[in-house]
Amino acid sequence: MNNQAPLLEVKNLTHRFADGTYGLKDISFSIKAGTWTVLAGANGSGKTVLVRHLLGLLPPDSGELWYSGRRADTRPGILRGEVGLVFQEPEHQIVGQTVLEDVLFGPENLGLTGDELSRQGKEALEAVGLTGFEERECHSLSGGEKRRLTLAGVLAARSRLIVLDEPFTGLDFPGSLDLLRILVTLQQKGISIFLVTHDLERVLAHTEQLLVLDSGTLVYHGSPSGLIGDSAGLAAGSRVEAAGTADGLAGGTRAGTDSGAGTDSGAGGAGRALLEKWGIRPPPKGLSLREMTWLKPGT
Ligand SMILES: Nc1ncnc2c1ncn2[C@@H]1O[C@H](COP(=O)(O)OP(=O)(O)OP(=O)(O)O)[C@@H](O)[C@H]1O
Ligand SMILES: [Mg+2]
Repeated sequence: MNNQAPLLEVKNLTHRFADGTYGLKDISFSIKAGTWTVLAGANGSGKTVLVRHLLGLLPPDSGELWYSGRRADTRPGILRGEVGLVFQEPEHQIVGQTVLEDVLFGPENLGLTGDELSRQGKEALEAVGLTGFEERECHSLSGGEKRRLTLAGVLAARSRLIVLDEPFTGLDFPGSLDLLRILVTLQQKGISIFLVTHDLERVLAHTEQLLVLDSGTLVYHGSPSGLIGDSAGLAAGSRVEAAGTADGLAGGTRAGTDSGAGTDSGAGGAGRALLEKWGIRPPPKGLSLREMTWLKPGT
């Protein structure tokens, strides 16, 4: 496969509910290997419905899903293990009695056995800082530890794309920092991160691609600086222009037609107004993109 080919590609995906209403309308975007995508949108905008499509849990009414150059909407089995989901509520995901049982559940189901299985479990627990917790009862873990255990489960299954639906909910500051640090390390190892979150100012420094949903429509699709500008004048600002033209960002163009802000890297004010219109709290004024992270120096 060509290295530049996207890991995951969503093409004109539309979802209609049984009552005839649209959950998603003509959504198109792609995710390159080893990149970080943030999906934002107001409550009820369709984020979880989209996530379920990325996992192959829902068939599109029209449109296609491609994974690693293979059509996946008609054969969702090829996504199994490859795309891992970390639920908003760890309680809905933890299935084992002990930490070790739980982390091995996914890879066992994918057919791993023996030394390979033990190695996957050990490495995954190490990656999330839960080495030494193997025999602990899952119910005795703290909220942050449970969230990290669910992440270990998808790592043990060797997922190359990890989808996290509001993973910071209920975590305190140290717990959120721990999780963000782990995600940054995973991305450095080549894993793609797809993060559904409202906390834009805490994660955008790490984000290559921002997607915004509004009532089932992808209203923005491009780099974060393309929407909210970059007061620090980071390199990302120049990437936007390239992205806006060379990649032909569909959502960026759509937002641009709407208001003129979608493809303008200096459109911080207009971008903030758009975020508000879409029901998303904009990052504080004056905060540069580089500062939009929980990982401040010394933390
Ligand atoms: N089976 C269904 N039939 C009809 N409408 C549905 C169905 N499932 C979800 N919806 C509606 O689709 C919309 C999008 O739901 P979704 O759960 O994707 O929102 P969300 O963006 O994840 O919101 P939140 O931020 O609250 O998690 C909502 O209005 C929801 O009520
Ligand atoms: Mg949701």
